[in-house]
Amino acid sequence: MRMVDLIHKKRSGEVLSEQEITYIVSGYTRGDIPDYQMSALLMAIFFNGMTSEEISALTLAMAGSGEMIDLSEIAGIKVDKHSTGGVGDKISLIVGPIVASLGIPVAKMSGRGLGHTGGTVDKLESIPGFQIELTKEAFIHAVNTNKIAIVGQSGNLAPADKKMYALRDVTATVDSIPLIASSIMSKKIASGADAIVLDVKIGSGAFMKTVDDARALARTMVDIGTQLKRNTIAMITDMEQPLGREIGNANEIRESIEVLRGTGDKELTEVAISVAAYMSLLGKVFESFEEAQVAVRDIVLNGKALETFKRFIASQGGDPNVVDQPELLPTAAYQFEVLAEKDGFINQINAEQIGIAAMLLGAGRAKKEDQIDYAVGLTLNRKIGDEVQIGESICTIHANQQDVKAVESMIQGAYRIENSKPAPIQLIYDVIV
Ligand code: URA
Repeated sequence: MRMVDLIHKKRSGEVLSEQEITYIVSGYTRGDIPDYQMSALLMAIFFNGMTSEEISALTLAMAGSGEMIDLSEIAGIKVDKHSTGGVGDKISLIVGPIVASLGIPVAKMSGRGLGHTGGTVDKLESIPGFQIELTKEAFIHAVNTNKIAIVGQSGNLAPADKKMYALRDVTATVDSIPLIASSIMSKKIASGADAIVLDVKIGSGAFMKTVDDARALARTMVDIGTQLKRNTIAMITDMEQPLGREIGNANEIRESIEVLRGTGDKELTEVAISVAAYMSLLGKVFESFEEAQVAVRDIVLNGKALETFKRFIASQGGDPNVVDQPELLPTAAYQFEVLAEKDGFINQINAEQIGIAAMLLGAGRAKKEDQIDYAVGLTLNRKIGDEVQIGESICTIHANQQDVKAVESMIQGAYRIENSKPAPIQLIYDVIV
């Protein structure tokens, strides 16, 4: 086989075979196929797309390019959850303990944040003592004991995807549905998931800007799941504004605790309950979504989910007292209020700009090597649809620096206040099965 012929084939709109795709992915991972040929192929895929068989073959080849985690020593259906990324998205922190409390094993590998979106692993590390690196034996033991463990992604998970993603980033080929879908699903397959709930975000803070694009991505990922015998459900949820009210690592742990206590932000709670219910459905614990939803609400109200969260923190070396005493979490030295510049209703909160504002404070990384400040972040005191008077606080900045002018103007730019009340935001647009 010659790479140049395969590029030509894809460029002509023909279909690559499973063998050809395996040859490309393994050759590229080994370094036998150079970046310039891979770039040309990625661009041909960008323009000509792939069939569902090609996408599944690409997913399997990328998953198999490195370590394939074997979770067979954990009894039960291992249901994973993945979000395409957003601002203030702390759903994994909330649904993990809920689903574990219902008896479904959560053996999760999560990523770090980059750019304007946060990562679950960074948020957990804001808990004093919390260890995100466990040996495979300790990871399996923790899940078998507490039904939940969350660790950082193994360095050798889907290395082909890592290399291809870096290349896509600099060749304008990131936003291709076959490439995004296979990239996400390859990591889920390699990390040992039996079933997967995908949370595809749409809006100002997300990859996908329209419902149609999000639906197409969701459909493609569900089809991959079906072909590879992993039961998969994709929800399409809102990221027009940040999720919940807190942004920043320790801030998001605090807000997750509130939701697990049953006193959290209503919209965040609603999305979390739906995600947890779909996970429980795939874990085959319930017959219907409605039954699962009732059980999920009950497990929060009776305090069991919060108890599981405490056990989970302690089992990974963290201080479980943060649950009852959130002041034990890192706290920023200064607080500044961002005030409404006029009367009216909040019509827009650009999630991406809010994410960048939090990153400027030190809550996120502009580059992979950047250090995170766990204590800093933002509290959104007003959200879309809320009425506000001039001079009232719309957002609180938690900072470890005294000059926050750039952050403040970014937040002012993200909020749009108008005279009319906007139509209510839809939280869940669709569910693809
Ligand atoms: N997230 C991924 O893991 N891969 C993509 O290609 C896009 C988002």
